[in-house]
Amino acid sequence: HSFSSKIERNPSYSLLNSDDISYFKSVLEEKCVVQDEERLSVANTDWLRKYIGSSQLLLLPKNTDEVSKILSYCNSRLLAVVPQGGNTGLVGGSVPVYDEVVISLANMDKIISLDKVNGILTCEAGCVLENLNSFLENEGFIMPLDLGAKGSCQIGGNVSTNAGGLRFVRYGSLHGNVLGLEVVLANGTVLDMLGTLRKDNTGYDLKHLFIGSEGSLGIVTKVSILTPAKLPSVNVALLACGDYLSCQKLLVAAKRGLGEILSAFEFMDSHAINLALTHLEGVTNPLPQSESKFYVLIETTGSHEANDKAKLEAFLLHTLEEGVVLDGAIAQDISQASTFWRIREGISEASVKEGACYKYDLSLPVEKLYGIVEEMRLRLDGTAKVIGYGHLGDGNLHLNIMTPEYTDNILTKIEPFIYEWTSAQRGSISAEHGLGFMKADKIHYSKSAEAVKLMGSFKKMLDPKLILNPYKELAAPFFTDIIH
Ligand code: FAD
Ligand code: MLT
Ligand code: ZN
Repeated sequence: HSFSSKIERNPSYSLLNSDDISYFKSVLEEKCVVQDEERLSVANTDWLRKYIGSSQLLLLPKNTDEVSKILSYCNSRLLAVVPQGGNTGLVGGSVPVYDEVVISLANMDKIISLDKVNGILTCEAGCVLENLNSFLENEGFIMPLDLGAKGSCQIGGNVSTNAGGLRFVRYGSLHGNVLGLEVVLANGTVLDMLGTLRKDNTGYDLKHLFIGSEGSLGIVTKVSILTPAKLPSVNVALLACGDYLSCQKLLVAAKRGLGEILSAFEFMDSHAINLALTHLEGVTNPLPQSESKFYVLIETTGSHEANDKAKLEAFLLHTLEEGVVLDGAIAQDISQASTFWRIREGISEASVKEGACYKYDLSLPVEKLYGIVEEMRLRLDGTAKVIGYGHLGDGNLHLNIMTPEYTDNILTKIEPFIYEWTSAQRGSISAEHGLGFMKADKIHYSKSAEAVKLMGSFKKMLDPKLILNPYKELAAPFFTDIIH
């Protein structure tokens, strides 16, 4: 297919044969060894419908032991594999490039335990994020992360991509919240790092290697994670700003004025909000009077209904008086709050309705962050739609460029320019989506040669036959290596 044309299939990998199928059927339940074309087609296609592999086999293990047997076999047979969670990744990391065996964690979705004193949840990697959150809410807790893909993405996929999302500004990174992991290595070894302690300084903290390693070092099978208390008062406001400088002023003001109750600070430019409003059914602009250039969604989460609401109202009034905000609305009920969120979270869905969508996910110094959107608009000179939005509170810009179809012509106008620009600001070419297949060979824009070399050593040590998620992330530089 077109996107793999730049990388050849590594001929060192074996081709699947009928003995392999028989082996998998002897280890897994028969219905968990899937060769059905329709189901394979789903597993071969990524969320953006941009990356399409040609795997002939989807395996659905039910427990860690089965994952271990699959990997141990694939390793000895030199069969390449792709770990797959909810398949919502946006960089082509979760689908095969060629005929890699897809190992889906979907059948490993059990909640194992919840420590209700400390809020520590332990579960299998295939649990869907939204299901975990619903389970926790009943117990008085919430997940420390939330994202638009919550209905499909799995905690194992979140950990493997080190997903950021909408609550990051409040609860921070999965590197802080994940307390333990169980991981199966390429040769089938089960690595038990499933601690449930807040503090543990005994030796290297190996779990961090697997957080964000995009299936290149092992398959995550269990996760234990710190979950914050569910607080009773949640408020959401949508504010309009006239320029990008005002958005920055608003961020500073929110951190000071809303302080401990601030739980989200998301921004979108008018192009992004208009796109969402165009494509999402039954949603209208909550600020119909304003034709502002920027919109900011602020959420507060706290323990005191009346105080929190009063604080947010005073904040809105103050920022309006100061001229930082031109217009604003506080959601009056849950339905309105969910509409505000639907607009922000719906941008991804809306952007793929335009045809082709080139997605960039950059970390940049906040004062520089919108500059690249404006520059890109000038550069593309009306030949594509350019939208900017994202997690402003974390310095994370999402820049989407949409055209009717993918063409080399447009791509050469975007890349490598966008990566060079980001690198020049000492930004990151992936704030939260990862490198996947899309950026497999772009890591040097954000990491030093020495760091990449050391990563390569880890890769070779943990997956010496390079069976795990080849052609992606760190595996890419090695795909031409001779496999021993
Ligand atoms: P997949 O897409 O299946 O896999 C992602 C990567 O992880 C692949 O490389 C795969 O091989 C690997 N992997 C998956 N499971 C395992 C496992 N158990 N062990 C080892 N490797 C594994 N991301 C953000 O960070 N923030 C956002 O706000 C955000 N919003 C999104 C909104 C939408 C609508 C969509 C479609 C995506 C969004 N994403 C966001 C992208 C994000 O990366 C994923 O949604 C999520 O973290 C991936 O989880 P998944 O289970 O779908 O993993
Ligand atoms: C988001 O924040 O909406 C996402 O990371 C997904 C996207 O950019 O499409
Ligand atoms: Zn995001």
